[in-house]
Amino acid sequence: MQSKKEKLVQIHEEAAAFYHQILMNTVTGQAALDYMTNRGFTQQTMQEYQIGFSPSNRTALFQMLKAKKFDEGLLQESGIFTDRQGQNELFDRFSGRIIFPLRNAKGQTAAFSGRIMHASQDDETGYHEAKYLNSPETLLFNKRDFLFNFDKARSEIRRHSEVVLFEGYMDVISAWQAGVKNGVASMGTSLTDEQNRILTKTADKIVIAYDGDRAGVEATKRAIEILERNKHFDISVFPLEAGMDPDEYIQQKGPEAFAKALKNNRETVIQFYSRYLKMNLNLDSEKNRITYIETMLKALASLDSLIERELYMKDIAEEFGIPIDILQKQLKGYQQDVL
Ligand code: CTP
Ligand code: MN
Ligand code: MN
Ligand code: MN
Ligand code: MN
Repeated sequence: MQSKKEKLVQIHEEAAAFYHQILMNTVTGQAALDYMTNRGFTQQTMQEYQIGFSPSNRTALFQMLKAKKFDEGLLQESGIFTDRQGQNELFDRFSGRIIFPLRNAKGQTAAFSGRIMHASQDDETGYHEAKYLNSPETLLFNKRDFLFNFDKARSEIRRHSEVVLFEGYMDVISAWQAGVKNGVASMGTSLTDEQNRILTKTADKIVIAYDGDRAGVEATKRAIEILERNKHFDISVFPLEAGMDPDEYIQQKGPEAFAKALKNNRETVIQFYSRYLKMNLNLDSEKNRITYIETMLKALASLDSLIERELYMKDIAEEFGIPIDILQKQLKGYQQDVL
């Protein structure tokens, strides 16, 4: 006897194969295939991630699954369909979207995300419908502990004891195609404690490679706060200029440049924090300069490495023309606060 979970997985795998076949081999899927191809994704990548397309015929998937004798109540519970509205048929909630199967840690398809095709990729304002639509929470899918690509990336994460955390699945897939195979993404929302716990068990180092826009920088700060709670990770940040995300970086500068930059251009948490503060404080004002220096000194007070601290103290002393012994004195005061 198959358990309910196993049957739900089976439904998802049938659906994933259906969507994938439509993307790769049909006229219905042609525009979506062109879209993905124009974005630089290869056939091999699309097969690897079993990317698909959900046709405009909203009942086609239901008919197919029904013919395979899946129980209708179970189909309803899968989250793939919208609520029945009087008819005898269930409507595919992802209709007209490019489909990304969301695989759990065992590699089983547990949910889907669907992307609309017509919106430009960098303008999120003026959408009439959400750019991405995810499966609702089900018996198989819990957003809070889900990490996209963890099934494929796990062995590579272990090998290097390092994980790269991206904001979107497009970034993960693009990075994978560029040869960076230890990437995962949280589900759009900021990193959760559950995701942190899973990653903590698998790696000692984490590189945050979120989008370069303000939302990405704010999300980076929140992710650092969560990751720092258990003092496990060696955290670094891959800084991207505003208006760029890792996928766009790869498109513009190429896969080799990306892999190299990701390895070599990393900020420490303190360097990120400095950039973050400067983004939010106009340092032309005396008051903001004082706030900046004091906030940095507080952050430095909690650093374990005296050497790292000394380097940044020197930077601040030079940048603001303040004698380093004054900075030291002030920092001592903050350390007493910490102890
Ligand atoms: N997201 C979402 N719903 C939206 C927008 C975003 O769930 N309407 C989540 C998705 O998980 C997505 C992540 O937030 O992967 C990152 O969003 P964004 O940066 O806008 O998406 P990209 O990965 O850049 O997608 P694309 O390149 O296709 O625009
Ligand atoms: Mn390797
Ligand atoms: Mn973004
Ligand atoms: Mn993005
Ligand atoms: Mn993008």
